[in-house]
Formats: sequence, C-alpha cells, structure tokens
Amino acid sequence: RIPLVIDTDPGIDDALAILLALASPEVDLQLVTAVHGNVGLAQTTENALRVLHLAGRSDVPVAAGAAGPLVHPIPERAGHVHGAAGLGGVELPASPAPLDPRPAVVALAELLLAHDPGTVTVAPIGPLTNIALLLHVFPEAAARIGRVVWMGGSATRGGNVTAAAEFNAWADPEAAAAVLGSGLPVTMVGLDVTLPTVLTETGIARFREGGGHVGATAAGVLRQYVDAARDRYGIDGVVVHDALALTEAIVPGTLTTVRRDVVVGTTLGAARGQTLVDRRSVAEHGVEVAEAVDSAAAVEFLVSRLETYGA
Ligand code: BDR
Ligand code: CA
Repeated sequence: RIPLVIDTDPGIDDALAILLALASPEVDLQLVTAVHGNVGLAQTTENALRVLHLAGRSDVPVAAGAAGPLVHPIPERAGHVHGAAGLGGVELPASPAPLDPRPAVVALAELLLAHDPGTVTVAPIGPLTNIALLLHVFPEAAARIGRVVWMGGSATRGGNVTAAAEFNAWADPEAAAAVLGSGLPVTMVGLDVTLPTVLTETGIARFREGGGHVGATAAGVLRQYVDAARDRYGIDGVVVHDALALTEAIVPGTLTTVRRDVVVGTTLGAARGQTLVDRRSVAEHGVEVAEAVDSAAAVEFLVSRLETYGA
C-alpha cells in the first residue's frame, strides 16, 4: 500500500477526495495536513477532522499548516462555491479526535523521515503553501517524497478564478512556482483533465442510495454545488477536481501525462497564477502534466469506491 499524505483545504471536492482515499485499499492515508484556501485555515482544519470522523477514521492525524499564502494575501476565498463553512452548507458532527499539535510541516517532515526515500505520495489538493514551506524548512525530508500529485493549474483551458489562473495556483503562485520548480517528481492534475470529468446526478444518486451513511452525507455535501452548476451553467452534475487527483495518486497511470516545462505567473496583474505550460516539446526535467483522461472510467472509479461505504 502506498503511504499517502493529503494536503487539503476542504472544500466540497476535497471532502470527496478524502473519502475516496479512505475507501481505497491501494493507499494508506497516514496524515492529513490542512491549508488555507477555499475558506480560512481554522475552518479547513475543522472540516478535515470532521470528514475523517464521518468515515470512522479519526485515527488519521490532522495537522494545521499555513493560514495564508507565502507573499501576497489573496483577494477573496471560494466561500461562494463551497459554502461559507466550506462543505456546501452541511454541518458534519464534530470529531472527538484532537488536532495534532505539530505544525503541518513538522508532521510532514517526521513522516517522510520515518519512511524510505521515494515511497510516500503527497497529494496537495489546495494552494501549495505547506509544500513550499516544507521545501524551505526541511529540504532533506522534502527530497524523500516519492511523488507529488497536485490538483491545480491549467495547460490549455485558461483559468477558473481569473481568465488566466486556476484557483489553487492563483491562491499562492509563489508557492506553486517553488514546488513546480523544485525538481521533485510533480504530477499536475489541472483543469485540462478535471473539467471534462463530470460527476452526474445519476452517479451521485448511486452513492446516496447505496453508500450508507457516508455516501448519503457526501451526496448532501454536493447538493448546493450541483444546484449551482445547473442554475449557472445548465449542466447536469459537478466537477470534483480534487477527487480526480486522488484517483491518480491511488492508481498511478490513470491519467495520461506528458513531461513539460511549466512556469507559474507570479507578477501582480492579469497573468498572476497562470501555469504556463510549454507544449512545444517534451521536457527533460519539468512536471508531469496530465493531458488526457478517460472521464467515464474516472467517474465510475469514484462512484463505485464511494458505494463501498454501504457494504
Ligand atoms: C480547486 O479549487 C478549489 O476550489 C477546489 O477544491 C479545487 O482544489 C479547483 O480549481
Ligand atoms: Ca481543494
């Protein structure tokens, strides 16, 4: 089983991603680190604890990380998408488990030093602030990461928060630049593959009906998100970005990736947070950019794993 850390800002799709990992025997979720992002850090931390508790897995430690980006404060969070408290207006029961007292970077470094180099997968599904801090504060530990599977960025689809930028890149471009340029083995799971991967109402109904209490609750967390997508874009279903990144972390090779040189826009202005992917050629170093996905298979994977909560 692949030792796994999820670095997250729950977040509706973050919650789905955590539930997917916990339902997947290929990975062993050993630590969750919380980061600012969709909502503030206190709320993302609390939500992470509650999602683990929902799944009956409050044994997985949760450590709190960065409360804001490395350099420039972000103008606005994503409460309008995820609900003011981050989970689509659903209030999950509080967890009996205490927060891990260690700062996220310390918890991450200790975990990495306790495993063989190259064995641990880290899946950041929010802004990359915690991972950038780990690189700066504990470089020897960071160098032991086997794989970083990041949900963020966009090669061909423009942005979702500005014309140029995807939310996780935009929320801390300096951190994204540090991580993507670090030489670590990073896979970028961006809007190119997440946007075409739509979880439909039919799929949601399957785990609402068949996924026991956890599945029904997950469907409830998605409710507002589904309604907003229907009202705003006229689509049946939602894009659960972070769950697709987790699918790649759980089953490496799910996505078709190509090694590319990627530069992150860090200047203030229209291109801030853009992930500029050089698609003219295959890079020698660079980042594994996810460029193609079998969306139907990915959605089926998510739905069938969430259904196992009812077994
Ligand atoms: C990303 O932004 C957040 O709102 C989601 O949780 C996801 O990580 C998609 O752009
Ligand atoms: Ca997220």
